[in-house]
Amino acid sequence: MTDSTNRPSPPAVRAIHLCINWRAGNTLPSCGEKGSKELADALEVGLKARDLPYTFRRMHCMGKCHIGPTMKISHGGPFIMGAQDFDVPQILDWLAAADFDALAAAFPLPAQDMNIET
Ligand code: FES
Repeated sequence: MTDSTNRPSPPAVRAIHLCINWRAGNTLPSCGEKGSKELADALEVGLKARDLPYTFRRMHCMGKCHIGPTMKISHGGPFIMGAQDFDVPQILDWLAAADFDALAAAFPLPAQDMNIET
């Protein structure tokens, strides 16, 4: 859906899932050891401050542990890979504009990981 400027309208409600898992007591690659807790905290504060129409859920592993933090926009949105807490202001701008293409382009899912089921 687009508005009169041909930009996508913000969704009514979408969900953001972010992995905060620590694998094997930090002996294996994981989102937790790559800053996902700090990212989760910053996103929760930012989403609330801007009153954006997204629900936010902390998850435990989406199978992409080596390239996290792993975030997914549901339903049907892209994976957002490797963002950090200092990226949150820009991420919130893209979420507010429902510009998921820009968001996914900034934090891409590597091609070799596109077929991993989550
Ligand atoms: S630990 Fe985050 S995807 Fe597995």
